[in-house]
Amino acid sequence: MIDFCYHFSTMLPKDPHGCPYLFLAPMEGIGDRCFRKAMASVGGYDESVTEFLRVPSNAHVKSLSRQYHSDELAPLPLAAQIMGSDPALMAEMAFEIQNRGAPRIDLNCGCPSNTVTGRGAGSSLLKDPSLLYTIAHAMVRATSVPVTIKMRSGYEDTSLFKENLCAAQESGARFITLHPRTKVDGYGPPARWDLIAEAKSLLKIPVVGNGDILNVDDALKMLHTTRCDALMIGRGSVTNPFLFHQIRAHFSGQAYQPEWKVFARYFEVFLAEIPAEMPARSKVNKMKQLMSFLFKGNEHLQKRRQEILTLAPKDFQAFIEYVLPLFQEGWEQATFSSFPAS
Ligand SMILES: Cc1cc2nc3c(=O)[nH]c(=O)nc-3n(C[C@H](O)[C@H](O)[C@H](O)COP(=O)(O)O)c2cc1C
Repeated sequence: MIDFCYHFSTMLPKDPHGCPYLFLAPMEGIGDRCFRKAMASVGGYDESVTEFLRVPSNAHVKSLSRQYHSDELAPLPLAAQIMGSDPALMAEMAFEIQNRGAPRIDLNCGCPSNTVTGRGAGSSLLKDPSLLYTIAHAMVRATSVPVTIKMRSGYEDTSLFKENLCAAQESGARFITLHPRTKVDGYGPPARWDLIAEAKSLLKIPVVGNGDILNVDDALKMLHTTRCDALMIGRGSVTNPFLFHQIRAHFSGQAYQPEWKVFARYFEVFLAEIPAEMPARSKVNKMKQLMSFLFKGNEHLQKRRQEILTLAPKDFQAFIEYVLPLFQEGWEQATFSSFPAS
């Protein structure tokens, strides 16, 4: 891991072996504090960011900002992502979050949820490059830490793609992360990596490539075909928590062997972070959500995925006692083949 200070560099650094800067993606729901803490226990990436913190028009900004805790993953940096459509409130929020120690503040221009877009936030901002500019610029002016933008390629289509990229750059954003699907695409069609290459050739600020990286080959292919400056990985890291290490190992030339004891620790941390007061049913569902990703990424476990998802355990403990040994057994049978480097 490298020591990095945004204030002294506008470029995203590479490690001594040439591995690009690696981000764990924000993922509202699955990528909550439990997941982030568990992932931090495995490591391999440089930085993560919170899921979006919504700033509604009636927000009491100061109290809302208390939901962000900069030291959550210390010493790993945790940036804060905010989402909203009122420039003054977003600037105020960026300021408050900066005062709470955020190393970077990210503007969400990607959330496809209709509840959000109906209120003019998230991917809705891509319909109006000048509003995107105004919000991002207000955040830049209100803070001294880097402001960045995470965006999709458009709302209904990509007709405003270039305008949105230029608005982002002109606003003073330090870099952008591009998830190259439109709002209307959702998560369905393959991410259009050609648009990452286009953004890279158009912009002077760094471009972080994101979308559909599931293994080391995908990561290398994205780097080579788009020339992006850094990588962000979401779902691929839920399916395979070792993916960041495997990418890093490719660059250092040292083999990375996923170990069960690291996985065991991952679960331990995940479980410890689940709030005790959460109803048992919600706890089971939360664990099922995680298992659904993990069982998908492992050919030996795939056949038991449905069984796990339809289990109706008598309580949370019973579920854990059933599912963890099953997972361990399948994982150990599969060993390396389950987490292919390519
Ligand atoms: C369940 C889920 C929640 C997400 N929540 C957020 C979010 O809060 N903020 C954001 O910018 N992107 C969010 N995303 C988008 C991801 O950060 C990422 O851009 C997208 O999943 C594509 O990357 P991937 O193929 O590596 O997962 C979310 C994605 C998923 C699947």
